[in-house]
Amino acid sequence: MANGILILSYLIGSVSFIIGLKMLSHPDSARKGNLYAAIGMTLAILATIFFYTDSNGVYLKNHLWIFGGLLIGSIVGTLAAKKVQMTAMPQMVSLFNGMGGACAAIISIVEFKHMLHAGNTVSSDVVLSSTILIGLVIGIVSFTGSMIAFGKLNGNINDKTLPLQQLINIGLLVLILVLVTGMVSGMIQGDPMTLMYVVLSVSALYGVLFVMPIGGADMPVVISLLNSFTGVAAAFGGFLYDNSVMLTGGILVGSAGTVLTVLMCKAMNRSLTNVIVGSFGGTKQTGGGGSEVGGTYKEISMSDTAVLMMYSKKVIIVPGYGLAVAQAQHICHELEKVLDQNGVEVKYAIHPVAGRMPGHMNVLLAEADVSYDKLLDMDEINPEFAQTDVVLVLGANDVVNPAAKTDPASPIYGMPILNVEDASHVIVNKRSMKPGYAGIENALFFQPKTSMLFGDAKDALTKLVAEIKSMA
Ligand code: TAP
Repeated sequence: MANGILILSYLIGSVSFIIGLKMLSHPDSARKGNLYAAIGMTLAILATIFFYTDSNGVYLKNHLWIFGGLLIGSIVGTLAAKKVQMTAMPQMVSLFNGMGGACAAIISIVEFKHMLHAGNTVSSDVVLSSTILIGLVIGIVSFTGSMIAFGKLNGNINDKTLPLQQLINIGLLVLILVLVTGMVSGMIQGDPMTLMYVVLSVSALYGVLFVMPIGGADMPVVISLLNSFTGVAAAFGGFLYDNSVMLTGGILVGSAGTVLTVLMCKAMNRSLTNVIVGSFGGTKQTGGGGSEVGGTYKEISMSDTAVLMMYSKKVIIVPGYGLAVAQAQHICHELEKVLDQNGVEVKYAIHPVAGRMPGHMNVLLAEADVSYDKLLDMDEINPEFAQTDVVLVLGANDVVNPAAKTDPASPIYGMPILNVEDASHVIVNKRSMKPGYAGIENALFFQPKTSMLFGDAKDALTKLVAEIKSMA
């Protein structure tokens, strides 16, 4: 009976993960999808606590410890999620992802000890010991890598590249592979616990060195890759415990993370091999990146901006990180509506890595009720810039930087960008001439058809909407 309830709960849990994930693919259903998956997860956890029995038919004990841990975790998680700024989301995702990796690694350590206490040697059950050790390696790489990613996104850690970084990374990977296969095959003898801790330490170091040099615009790729690592590590845990819901959840996170990594690689024009070896794409620059960027830029007044936009046939808005910081999505939607009422066609150009997390701009604009069919992906919108009168760049920088196309020395060289300079006029709203995330200057700001509209995005858009309304 208890086992039947357990299996049924795991089935419901697994189905809820799949439905939830499917619903996450659209902003309208994403919230509900998240909720369904969370309910499924809660059901699976409670079923495990109350209905799981070991091979002797004994139920789980230690309820006080389990619920104590659950309570503390729930309080910390809820407070952190409520308090976090939308713009600090990637850091939080990294932190939570790292915790998942750490859990998988701890499971492997505990199960390694159980395996030895049960009288097995590492090489006596190859499947069991490989599952434990691979889960350990992936889990700890995900943990230390995510912690470094957290520190970098939070501005606590700078990019650092060691001399011969790629060689060191490859060397560490080979060492891990040799140690694990040597232990499992019995070719490497010695105290198994010591060997396991050596694997743990080398893998932890690899996680650190793998993420450390990655900088500039390349972080999104590494975050989604680490996310998929955690999923795979959790799937190994599911395999270890013969736990179907853990296996399904892990595989879903692993495969979704991998798909996202591939999409991000495509968006950034990076190869996956480079990501795995680490140290790709160069590091943050403080100057102009590759070749010198400079010259004079021209400013535009609020009233000129309003006139230009009002007498346009077609306007494309390019939202970026600054729009999210300013929380200007609602007033941006207001601008779109006012222009629309005056016969101006308005669309949004969404770059895949605009903002600080995958889908950041879609989530932001959906929150302000911007119609989903007005949001066009880079490939769809790029051919439209040539027929556009005005492009309004709102707090975006790297995703419209022409150096990605023209300057091989630039750290963002090769990243596909929004071709805003094909439009007749480009108006850039930001607060200063400071660079964006990649830390490089932007030649777009100095081009003859570009005008700078300085100011905080929310403030500037509020004034712009008022100006346009007064003209209408
Ligand atoms: P960024 O290149 O980061 O540029 C944002 C610009 O917004 C800055 O130049 C800043 O200039 C301006 N800004 C800041 N606060 C503002 C405010 N209150 N009002 C108006 N403007 C403001 O943004 P992007 O073009 O969206 O590119 C995203 C970058 O982040 C890419 O390099 C991407 O690779 C990276 N990244 C993306 C992700 C994901 S998954 N999306 C994750 C991590 C990193 P001022 O200071 O002069 O105002």
